[in-house]
Amino acid sequence: MYQAPRGTQDILPEDAPYWTYVEDETRRQARLANYGEIRTPTFEETAVFARGVGAATDIVEKEMYSFDDKGGDSMTLRPEGTAGIVRAYLQRSMSGRPQPVKLFTLLNAFRYDRPQKGRFRAFHQIDFEAIGETDPLVDAELVGLQLRLYEALGLRRLSLQLNSIGDARCRPAYVQRLGDYFRQHLDGLCEDCRRRLETNPLRLLDEKRPECQAVLDGAPHSADHLCDPCRGHFEGWLDHLETAGISYTINPRLVRGLDYYTRSVWEVWPPVQGAQSTVGGGGRYDGLAEQLGGKPTPGVGFASGIERIILELKDQGVAVTPQPAPCVYFVSMDERGKRQSFRLAEMLRAAGISADMAFGDRKIGKQLGAADKSGAQWALILGENELANDSITIKDLRGGSEQRTITQRDLLKVLEHGHGSTE
Ligand code: HAM
Repeated sequence: MYQAPRGTQDILPEDAPYWTYVEDETRRQARLANYGEIRTPTFEETAVFARGVGAATDIVEKEMYSFDDKGGDSMTLRPEGTAGIVRAYLQRSMSGRPQPVKLFTLLNAFRYDRPQKGRFRAFHQIDFEAIGETDPLVDAELVGLQLRLYEALGLRRLSLQLNSIGDARCRPAYVQRLGDYFRQHLDGLCEDCRRRLETNPLRLLDEKRPECQAVLDGAPHSADHLCDPCRGHFEGWLDHLETAGISYTINPRLVRGLDYYTRSVWEVWPPVQGAQSTVGGGGRYDGLAEQLGGKPTPGVGFASGIERIILELKDQGVAVTPQPAPCVYFVSMDERGKRQSFRLAEMLRAAGISADMAFGDRKIGKQLGAADKSGAQWALILGENELANDSITIKDLRGGSEQRTITQRDLLKVLEHGHGSTE
C-alpha cells in the first residue's frame, strides 16, 4: 500500500474544522485591515528563491524541491510566499497603485527538512505583505494584525520577540564586528558554528546548543550598531507598538533564517517553547525587489504556519465547532423508495436544508443505525405505506420520541417551520 510522503499530512474531515476556523479568521482580519487577497503559483523559477531568499540560507542550500521541467527550465516548489508575491508585484506593475499595496494569501509551501512535531515538508502558511512603504507604522500594523488574529482565534500567553538587524548601509560593519568577536572566542563555539562563521556569522546567533551559549550571550547586539536612519526606524516601530498597547521583548539574538530581511524582524512564540514551535515570524525586506531585478521597493510582512497555529490551539484546549450534522437522513425500503428519497433530498438541499441518505441495499435497521450515527436530527422514512400514499414518516433521532407521518408535499414546510433548523 502507498504511504503519503514523509513529512506530509492528510487533513481528514474531523480535523478540517480547525483549518476553516483559522482560514475564516484570517480572511476576517485581512478585511478589517484592508489587505486584498493574492494567489501566486505553487512553483516559480528557481532563481526567484535563490536570489530572493538567499543562496547561503538553509532553505536554498538544502531544503528546496527543485526540478528541471520538460523545457529544461529549473523550477522550485515555493518554500515560502514572500519572494513570489514580490515577483508578482514587480511583474504586474503594482508600483502604479496606491502604496503600500497590502496583500495576503493562504499558501502551501515545501521544504525538504527533517520532519518532527510542527515541522513538515509540505505545510501551509497564512502570509501578509505590505509593499511600497518604509514607514514603520506599516511594520506596527502588521504586528498588530498578527497578534489580533491569534487573540481572536483564542490563543493566549504568546510572546512577541523582535529586533532590528539594520540594512545594507550599517549591517556589513556590524557583521564584521560580530565575526571578529566570534573569531576571538572560537574555543567556546561548536564545530558547526565555526564553519558557519565563514559564510554567515549572523546565523550563529540562532544557535541553540548549550556549549555555545556563553559566547553567544556576550556577542555585540545589532540594535546597538544601527545607522541613524535604521535607528530612527526601529524607534518609530517600537513607539507605534507602545501606542497600540502591544508588549514586546527585544531579543538581540533574533536574526531569522531568510537573507532578505532588513531592519525589523520579529517572531511570535508560544508559552511552551519546543524546538519547532515559532507560531509565526516576519520582517522588513527593503532590498528584495532589487534582488529580483526590480526598482528599489521597500516591503514588510509576516507568515504563520497553519499547522503550528492548530497545534497551539489544541495544546491550549481551544475548542472548534465541528461541521454541523445533516438536518435529515433518508431511510427507505426498496429501489422505488431510494429513488424517491433522492428526489426529496435534492429538493431539500436546493431549499438550503442539509440532507443525507442511505446508499446500497441495507436493511431498514442498518439504515436507521447509519442515520443515528450521522448525527442527523430527523430520520425521514419511506416505507411501503408511505410510498403507497405519497407520505413520509419523520422520526426524531435526538432524544425526542416524536414520530409522525405527513404528506410528502408538506415536507419542506414542516422542516422549515415545525422541526429542525436549516443547514
Ligand atoms: P519563516 O520563518 O521561514 O518565514 O516561516 C514562517 C512560519 O511558517 C514559521 O514561523 C512557521 O510557523 C511556519 N513554518 C516554516 N517552516 C515550516 C515547516 N517546515 N513546517 C511547518 N511550519 C513551518 C517565512 O516564510 C517568511 N516568508 C515570512 C515573511 C513574510 N517575512 C516577510 N513576509
